Amino acid sequence: MPGDAPLLERLRAICGDAAVLTGGDMAAYATDWRGMFHGRPLCVLRPAGTEEVARCVAACAEAGTAIVPQGGNTGLAGGATPDESGTEVILALDRMTAIRRIDPVGMTVEVEAGTILQTVQDAVRNENRLLPISLAAEGSARIGGLIATNAGGVDVLRYGMTRALVLGLEVVLPDGQILSRLRHLRKDNAGYDLKQLFIGTEGTLGIVTAAVLRLVPLPRHRATALIAVPDIASAIALYARAQNEIGEALSAFELISGAGLDLISEHMGQTAPVHADWVLLIEAGSSLPGLREAAEKLLEAAFEEGWATDGVLAESGAQADALWQLRESLTEAEGKAGGAIKHDISVPIPGMDAFLQEAGAMLRDVAPEARLNVFGHLGDGNLHYNVMNVAKEDAARVNAALHDMVAAHHGSISAEHGLGQYRVAEWARLAGAVEHDLTHRIKDALDPAGLMNPGKVVPTRG
Ligand code: FAD
Ligand code: MLT
Ligand code: ZN
Repeated sequence: MPGDAPLLERLRAICGDAAVLTGGDMAAYATDWRGMFHGRPLCVLRPAGTEEVARCVAACAEAGTAIVPQGGNTGLAGGATPDESGTEVILALDRMTAIRRIDPVGMTVEVEAGTILQTVQDAVRNENRLLPISLAAEGSARIGGLIATNAGGVDVLRYGMTRALVLGLEVVLPDGQILSRLRHLRKDNAGYDLKQLFIGTEGTLGIVTAAVLRLVPLPRHRATALIAVPDIASAIALYARAQNEIGEALSAFELISGAGLDLISEHMGQTAPVHADWVLLIEAGSSLPGLREAAEKLLEAAFEEGWATDGVLAESGAQADALWQLRESLTEAEGKAGGAIKHDISVPIPGMDAFLQEAGAMLRDVAPEARLNVFGHLGDGNLHYNVMNVAKEDAARVNAALHDMVAAHHGSISAEHGLGQYRVAEWARLAGAVEHDLTHRIKDALDPAGLMNPGKVVPTRG
């Protein structure tokens, strides 16, 4: 096919007619999970392998056409949704789903970028290994999307964010070249660690087509507890004790508000065995015996110190799963209740109590009609400070006031969801001149024509 043939014709020649969607077939790809961002793509491409991705990207580059990579389309920052110009191409990785190799001894797995997280988790579990990325969207989110957003989730406390688990990457660069660094190595200091450029950069510098991820041994024992706490200060005191008592076994230290439990009960029909203004969902895992005894001792201490007012320690795997089901229903329940302005904030843990008190006072002043659904990863200092029932005209003021407060607490306005198009303007408002400059220099160096996911992460120059 000559280089000057119309783009759609060239793309059909590369991927096959059935893999180039247009018209109504694009609907599921054109709107984000929350139904908040709606795009109008030129077409949706569904290439079958890395070579096809590379040829599609080269053809788009030649035509000056922008590309929006898409994985499971579960992102919460609008990063995978194109604009409404009708000129951008969505490149979906959902046909690239091979698990290429599991190495239970070297504890690695090599997968194509479109593989669903849960599929990889299940496959490595059969080998007694764990891929420790865990989030409520794991049945839909794909490996490339998780890497592109540097996803967090409920296991970060122990295992780090997705970045900490990426050993090797294969990436199609904005000009169609393939960078192949699929190394199964834990140690590799030979030159710049180029893969880091593509982790957490939301498809603005290239398209991840395959990855090598680090695995850990599957813990044989698990202790899961739902605990009511009188206040945030007690929750943090309990967190410090848990770090001392069960240390590296602690994998999750999650906070849910009573208002969140009410949403789950109202919209998902699930009732928590414990209810209070604040509850904690705590989990620890180990292959060594004695974990349950250590967890019981920790709970006893929590009651003695007055840090806990009620609680259950799961008696079985099924009961533990039921407790997790509550936590994992929060986002869906929030959506069913009409949605929220999501603030994915992090602050240093010792300042969290003061932050929440200041934020509450601000909200009573700026948007007294608002309802809160605050939950998240307290052990990571990352909460989802989600504000519901806010009048449209108050939203920008709420965002600005809250993010200013985050900045004053030396925190982040996007702890784990990325900026996408949802938070890019707020990042631009708060970031310093040097951050702006370096961000643009990196973008310009890798994607000088600005065709990779424009309008996301990197602010458009004014
Ligand atoms: P998509 O939504 O398809 O894309 C996300 C971004 O990555 C976009 O910018 C897209 O362009 C880019 N991208 C996708 N694939 C590629 C690729 N192959 N190469 C380059 N760029 C690519 N996130 C958390 O961090 N922690 C949580 O606990 C969490 N819980 C969630 C719970 C629910 C119910 C939902 C709906 C979402 C949750 N998320 C969470 C957000 C979301 O699941 C993650 O951001 C996830 O990593 C997105 O993966 P995806 O495959 O759906 O990516
Ligand atoms: C979570 O922690 O469950 C997610 O990040 C989803 C959300 O913020 O809604
Ligand atoms: Zn989260």
